Amino acid sequence: MRSVIDTVDLTVEELDGIIKTACDISENPQKYAEKCKGKKLATLFFEPSTRTRLSFEAAMYELGGNVIGFSEAGSSSAAKGESVADTAKVISHYADIIAMRHPREGAPYVASKNATIPVINAGDGGHCHPTQTLADLLTIYREKGRLNDLSVGFCGDLKYGRTVHSLISALSRYTGIKVVLISPKELKLPVYVKEGVLEKKGMEYVETTDLEGAIGTLDILYMTRIQRERFDDQAEYERLKDSYILTAEKMQKAKADTCVLHPLPRVNEISVKVDEDKRACYFKQVLNGKYMRMALILKLLEDAQNGVEKKEDESEYLVNKLKCTNKKCISQVEQELEHKFMPTEKKGVYRCVYCESEQIVK
Ligand code: NCD
Repeated sequence: MRSVIDTVDLTVEELDGIIKTACDISENPQKYAEKCKGKKLATLFFEPSTRTRLSFEAAMYELGGNVIGFSEAGSSSAAKGESVADTAKVISHYADIIAMRHPREGAPYVASKNATIPVINAGDGGHCHPTQTLADLLTIYREKGRLNDLSVGFCGDLKYGRTVHSLISALSRYTGIKVVLISPKELKLPVYVKEGVLEKKGMEYVETTDLEGAIGTLDILYMTRIQRERFDDQAEYERLKDSYILTAEKMQKAKADTCVLHPLPRVNEISVKVDEDKRACYFKQVLNGKYMRMALILKLLEDAQNGVEKKEDESEYLVNKLKCTNKKCISQVEQELEHKFMPTEKKGVYRCVYCESEQIVK
């Protein structure tokens, strides 16, 4: 079965195809109004969400399909102790496709291994969020006319901001991308993205704490919220929460055609005044997200119908030899889940297949 857990599950050609379909949907919505007639999307949201869940639901309705699901873990059998694997097996009998959001990193991956229908990761803990990336890519493409040769600044919570991790991983497949990482030192990009994506792919990048110093060099400025719910120490959140606030004054230092993105929800990291600036593209991003989710649902249902399979080469995996130390990994709680690690380019360093955190084997 073909699922999308991370953006790398889609080839660049497939991404281009999804962008093309999304553009066509936005121009000819009527053409798509009955494409999913008789099909059901299950939205399994174990963690709060407004726009992602509603965006998936709106996407399915606009394709003529139906939606079932829940919007908080308390109203599902997870509250009774049901595993993610069992939930996925059960829902496979009720729906044609699943969109899952879960606070545990790797939960949608576990679901995809147990479901007989496609699973879309709608955000797993601080790990990744591929459909937000689809919204980001379409917005960049529509605003800039290209996905190559761009200077892209990421600002805010780069540690827990899963949308940042997924977008960097997607951009690593295009050429001429320069990444500027702007964050407090406590909220720097995780090693698995820095080494596993930026360095592995030989991408040009710099790290800085200075937004004002960097803003004038950027084609894209991707602002993010400090992710309060992912902090173990709330005092640290309080200390860091106002690290960056993009104001109309700071925008004066940006290029005339810099495009400002934000996955939303915004807290205070972009002043409301900036909304009037024509370079502010975050509300367009919301609409683009719906079109891209429509295009993705169509593609995955088509692949499922055509029996397209994704084979994972597990031959070099370490199975039950290491235990993941990431407290937020699904492997900490899911019953009888095998602990699986894949080798990395670094000798003796293995990566958890669920949450991608790294462990050294002595
Ligand atoms: C993001 C998320 O859920 O990670 N929001 C979204 O999907 N639109 C960003 C965030 O919550 O800050």
